[in-house]
Amino acid sequence: MDHPSGGHGLNFAAAVLAAPPYPGPWPGLDRSRFLPLDRNESTRPPPAPVRTAITAHVDASGVQAYPVSDRLALALARYCAVPAGCVLPTSGSSQAIQLVLRSLLPPGGSMLMATPGFPFFGHTATVLGADVRGVPFADDLTFPYRRFADAAADIRPDLIVLINPNNPTGSAVDVEFIEELAAGYRDVPVVVDEAYAEYTGVTCIPLIARRPNIIVLRSFSKAFAMAGLRLGYVVAAEPVITQLAKLRNPTDVNALAVVAGETHLRHLADMRRHVHETVHVAKPILTTFLREHGVRHWPGAANFVVVDPGPGRAATEYLRDCAILVRPMVSAPVAGFLRVTIGTAAEMRVVRDAYGAFLAGAPARRWWHP
Ligand SMILES: Cc1ncc(COP(=O)(O)O)c(C=O)c1O
Repeated sequence: MDHPSGGHGLNFAAAVLAAPPYPGPWPGLDRSRFLPLDRNESTRPPPAPVRTAITAHVDASGVQAYPVSDRLALALARYCAVPAGCVLPTSGSSQAIQLVLRSLLPPGGSMLMATPGFPFFGHTATVLGADVRGVPFADDLTFPYRRFADAAADIRPDLIVLINPNNPTGSAVDVEFIEELAAGYRDVPVVVDEAYAEYTGVTCIPLIARRPNIIVLRSFSKAFAMAGLRLGYVVAAEPVITQLAKLRNPTDVNALAVVAGETHLRHLADMRRHVHETVHVAKPILTTFLREHGVRHWPGAANFVVVDPGPGRAATEYLRDCAILVRPMVSAPVAGFLRVTIGTAAEMRVVRDAYGAFLAGAPARRWWHP
């Protein structure tokens, strides 16, 4: 039977009914048959101590008990050099985004962000019935400082989002600019998404002590290679954390994520080696090739590169036919470009060679084998 609400007969909020489904790349594809460079995941397994700790936990305790993340929160506070009450572990930083937007962005309110940015912000704001006000990145993919500051002054948004470095453009945002915004709009939450901060070493966390409207979101999905375990956290002034904590169940972070996160924080050299290899060994294999072949690209500050294949060139589909998944970009100023996640050096040689075949006009063939 047809219902005005969309066929289910339930009274969903109008903003939920009106929102499109969350966009996902390559629906229905068997991802195990591809080199997955489309979601900014790590392509490496967890380091040995983390693998051992996960197995030991399952062997000794199973997974039948609810998890406790208090010790993890203490370890995160030490890692971030903040007091213990300033950290809230979450189920991925996506849950952190939801907690912050659900509690601080009213229906009908407005959220200001540079676009394109991580789509989950805009999607969550839309579902909550808020208005997303986007300021496009400049054509050279630098952060639009002047236009962003003007938009903040014009709109007086209920919440400001800054992604540093930004996904998908790779652009860094000056910490001084973020502090100026936070100082200029003291009653507006300034949410700083630092999912990729380990790749830059740049963070706003030290600002929180004097700018309590800054809320930093972090992820274990990127440099810590734990996207499948879902671990993130919020770093903010203690009274902010107290309120955000009311919106989640204290058991939301699963037991294996707790064990893996704690172990990673005791073995930071593994993550740092991974970051170093990604930025200084694997990424240059691709960017050197692109530069030498006159392909316009932006190396960015994180574990991915933005590539402009030129008008009408179906590079994304060609690479998919080579068993390499990259992310097609759809919004200005990167529409028609692709974003390539940086994997290992060996994987980047495969991408380089496949892209070379594309430039040479060779037919696509399977360049990568699982
Ligand atoms: C900027 C940004 N923030 C947050 C996330 C989500 O990370 P998580 O896996 O921790 O939910 C991503 C994932 O790609 C991202 O690019």
